[in-house]
Amino acid sequence: MPKLKSANELEQLRKKIQSKKDTDKLCVTICSGTGCRAYGSENVYQSFIEELRRNDLLDKVDVLPTGCHGYCERGSIVVILPKEICYLKVKPEDVPEIVTTTLIKNEVVDRLLYVGDDGKKIPIEGDIPFYKNQKRIIIGNNRLINPTKIEDYIALGGYSALAKALFEMTPETVLNEVKKANLRGRGGGGFPAGIKWETTRSAPGDVKYVIVNADEGDPGAYMDRSLLEGNPHSVLEGLIIGAYAIEAHEGFVYVRQEYPIAVENLTIALEQAHKYGLLGSHILGSRFNFDVIIHRGAGAFVSGESSALMTAIEGRVGEPRPKYIRTAVSGIWEKPTNINNVETWANVPLIINRGADWFTSIGTEGSKGTKIFSLVGKVINTGLVEVPMGMTLRQIIYDIGGGIPKGKKFKAVQTGGPSGGCIPENLLDLPIDFDELSKVGSMMGSGGMIVMDEDTCMVDIARYFVNFLVGESCGKCVPCREGLKQMLIILNNICNGKGKDGDIELLEEIGEMMSAASLCALGTTAANPVLSTIKYFRKEYEVHIVEKRCPAGVCKELIEYHILQERCQACLICARNCPVNAIAGEKGIVHTIDHKKCIKCGICFEVCPSHFNAVIKLSGEKPPEVSYGMKVTRGKRE
Ligand SMILES: Cc1cc2nc3c(=O)[nH]c(=O)nc-3n(C[C@H](O)[C@H](O)[C@H](O)COP(=O)(O)O)c2cc1C
Repeated sequence: MPKLKSANELEQLRKKIQSKKDTDKLCVTICSGTGCRAYGSENVYQSFIEELRRNDLLDKVDVLPTGCHGYCERGSIVVILPKEICYLKVKPEDVPEIVTTTLIKNEVVDRLLYVGDDGKKIPIEGDIPFYKNQKRIIIGNNRLINPTKIEDYIALGGYSALAKALFEMTPETVLNEVKKANLRGRGGGGFPAGIKWETTRSAPGDVKYVIVNADEGDPGAYMDRSLLEGNPHSVLEGLIIGAYAIEAHEGFVYVRQEYPIAVENLTIALEQAHKYGLLGSHILGSRFNFDVIIHRGAGAFVSGESSALMTAIEGRVGEPRPKYIRTAVSGIWEKPTNINNVETWANVPLIINRGADWFTSIGTEGSKGTKIFSLVGKVINTGLVEVPMGMTLRQIIYDIGGGIPKGKKFKAVQTGGPSGGCIPENLLDLPIDFDELSKVGSMMGSGGMIVMDEDTCMVDIARYFVNFLVGESCGKCVPCREGLKQMLIILNNICNGKGKDGDIELLEEIGEMMSAASLCALGTTAANPVLSTIKYFRKEYEVHIVEKRCPAGVCKELIEYHILQERCQACLICARNCPVNAIAGEKGIVHTIDHKKCIKCGICFEVCPSHFNAVIKLSGEKPPEVSYGMKVTRGKRE
């Protein structure tokens, strides 16, 4: 790899790489993101190599292991270019058929295609509703790049924004372009990146730092990981451009230790960028010097908070500090430090290349561009989705997500990670952007989106998030440490049938106190799941407290399982699966549950064949009559 000494040399290299690429050549892209790897995509890759070798096709077909394609629900995903034929749930044993049918005979393997609601098969990736309704300007290139090969990124125009910034723009004009684009931070608060850059740039001192925040500790969120794993150079290019604008010469990527593929691909990306002279001294032959260090985080949610993260980089315990002086002015080792989220940085090359006017043409009045969400929970198509700001929750959950599985009803969607809020059905037409989500008591956060169906208990959900935050609170400030603990005690009581009058008001009071008095945003936003569920699902809290019932049938202490004797076929399936032998009865004798032994695991409910439906779950309703020893022969009872 020769060191590139000018923008021209980068352009020459791009042309050389592109000229070697035959765009008509068949190319099998295999999603190798963490999700698909868990489904066994590495074996799918190996099978393609072996099968192509067997058919003497290795020089006629390229095989490209790529980053996450996003449709994680249907992994392993294989897309065959140039036609973009998309195969879902591919297993190694499917590979010989794909090679023979598609790569040799140019036909599609019907059984591996996406099937629409109308039963029609959709062969082309971009026509699948999950992809069709997205705008994938940031995550979209994942599917075209081998993340361990810088040349793939360069071929797609990678590092041309850096060259433009270095040779056609001054640091001030770069800064102004980002300000004009009104790029808001994708990591939580939505603070305008340009203004933060400007604060660091104009803060006194010669030494300044820039940071990529890749901590991403929210349950259910994996956008940043997938971007770093799948297209590390896009983040790196944004960071170098930002450093140029701010006049920083050293940067850090703070990435959690539990993201090994992201760390590995990023390490390779840094080495390759160095070799090509895109990092280090005199980048692309310019006078700009910049280097990056990877700092692996130990996996604490609170360490994603900016001041905590900087303390961790300094080698101390990653706990937040009061921000009387902002980190943009006094960050790592008290030097001005600009921190941005992975996705925020990845937007920068696009803004520089295509301009602020293009960027502001996407999105809403106050929130420009797109946002990546990890759409998870009770939704048919789980995965990573990138949509323009302003798309409604309904469009995301139904048009892209395919709606709620098993014909169940939608109940709520939780956005913004553990400190976000739960949004009810009547707000499904809310256009999502930073401001609209805050108005309804939730937030954008870094982009977690958890869908819940009618079987979800909203009190239990609030309890789940508070429990998570109790474990993650650093304990440094009293409002957060004690407030969360007290909230958890009250929520546990309510879920256990020990709730009392005044509990809801007390939860609200504690929540307001925490929002006003906590040290960092973990504490000030921690009550959101509780306050939003009280706001939109207050009745459910009241039923738990007053009637000691859990309408969704989730809170263990408030439910009981029963066997309907008129439906029981005495088949022994539930009895055999009960882990505590709480089910009495034998072949031919209808079964009964011993409630003293029952641990309410629900296994009997799950295993009872659906054509019998003999096990029911009750919460507060009158239990069915039981007579012991009833015989059943060929459906007749005596
Ligand atoms: C408890 C807590 C955890 C956070 N975790 C992350 C994180 O994992 N990634 C992230 O980018 N921002 C996280 N943030 C937000 C950061 O403090 C900071 O605002 C963000 O990195 C700034 O980048 P942005 O302006 O590009 O969003 C967290 C904040 C809090 C309070």
